[in-house]
Amino acid sequence: MTDRYAVIGNPISHSKSPLIHRMFAEQTGQDISYEAIEAPLDGFAATIERLRREGYKGCNVTVPFKEQAYRLAGSFGSEVMVAHAANTLELKNDRIEAHNTDGIGLLRDIEQNLQVSLRDKQILLMGAGGAAKGVATQLASLLLHKSPSTSLVIANRTVEKAHELARACNATRVSGQSYEELADQQFDIIINATSAGLTGDAIPLPDSIFAPDALAYDMMYGRETPFMAFARAHGARVADGLGMLVEQAAEAFHIWRGVRPDTRAVLDKLRA
Ligand code: ATR
Repeated sequence: MTDRYAVIGNPISHSKSPLIHRMFAEQTGQDISYEAIEAPLDGFAATIERLRREGYKGCNVTVPFKEQAYRLAGSFGSEVMVAHAANTLELKNDRIEAHNTDGIGLLRDIEQNLQVSLRDKQILLMGAGGAAKGVATQLASLLLHKSPSTSLVIANRTVEKAHELARACNATRVSGQSYEELADQQFDIIINATSAGLTGDAIPLPDSIFAPDALAYDMMYGRETPFMAFARAHGARVADGLGMLVEQAAEAFHIWRGVRPDTRAVLDKLRA
């Protein structure tokens, strides 16, 4: 029998997840179906319950339900506990297991697809909202274990939230700062996890922020944000979040199916 999966959000019609997971399934010969489901804003828990009753094996969760997904789950990985948000659920008979694959997706995209090593790098993460929380702790723990001279600065317009997220990372060499405090600093990897690009707003970064050969990574995809344009104008290498989208999906697929799809082929198709 075909195992059923879905992505749940509101709105959801724009989601590329069904396309990505169907490509993964075809490539790996897995017999699954994957659809997009729009849950009412006040009906996430009821939607999950329905899926469980109907025998769905798992789902991805996107805006605005990631925090609710975390709260619904009976067990979860450490990356979920700090982010307080989950993007991948396993629907088991007796419980829901929550995961957050955004952090690993981001790291894989940077290191494997873009071939940029995180070792010994000064990293700036901009934003302290849901998107930033989803990646910050994993970034901090993986990085700092692998590479003791890497540092991570989290900057946010509301600086208290940057401090709070840095504290939640519970790792040395992670600090929270305001954008003003960045004035005399340079970074090798700058990641935009703010929603400023949605409204076309620029982030107040100093012109000298990019170290030589810096990577400017915007977690958004499908549009050129003011941050990307700023980075290009200052000679940085620029990447959007499409690779992260595919990599977080691949990690979810691996959790559900135990096989790892070839993400490169899928990413190439999406870009084409
Ligand atoms: P998301 O789930 O996309 O992260 P969110 O939780 O509402 O959405 O968080 C939005 C993030 O983008 C926040 O870090 C926000 O900064 P504040 O905490 O100060 O609100 C940031 N953000 C949004 N618009 C911004 C702008 N114009 N300039 C700088 N940061 C902005």
